[in-house]
Amino acid sequence: MEDALRDARARTLALYSHLDLARLEVPCIAIVNPPLWELAHIAWFQEFWCLRGGRRDGTRAPMLDHADRMFDSGTVPHDTRWSLPYPSPQAIGRYMGDTLDATLDALAHATPEATYFFRLAALHEDMHGEALLMTPPRSRRSVSM
Ligand SMILES: [Fe+2]
Repeated sequence: MEDALRDARARTLALYSHLDLARLEVPCIAIVNPPLWELAHIAWFQEFWCLRGGRRDGTRAPMLDHADRMFDSGTVPHDTRWSLPYPSPQAIGRYMGDTLDATLDALAHATPEATYFFRLAALHEDMHGEALLMTPPRSRRSVSM
């Protein structure tokens, strides 16, 4: 499971490595999310299920301030994700690293039943990688061949 989580993260970072996240704009359509939202949401999801028990009762705060209000796909309406007060790409990168490190530490002590959520987090991250590959640029130019 550790390999799956590390592999998913390596793939995510590779997919995003060539993008200028501070300037990249994508259209507000149902099948995509803003790239910064995607990255922070991946970390939020992993933290929420692997480290916070999937509980929204406030007993354990997220590692990134206001992460629950911005990156919870169950409560943040899709179209509002284009106008959130995002942390910097560097802060989101730290959040991703911090949550992965803590998740891997938790995995080392997880019961066999609890590994379900670690697998879920790895597959969820891969799914969001696929979503990035489906994301069109904000405006398309016609291409003549
Ligand atoms: Fe998601």
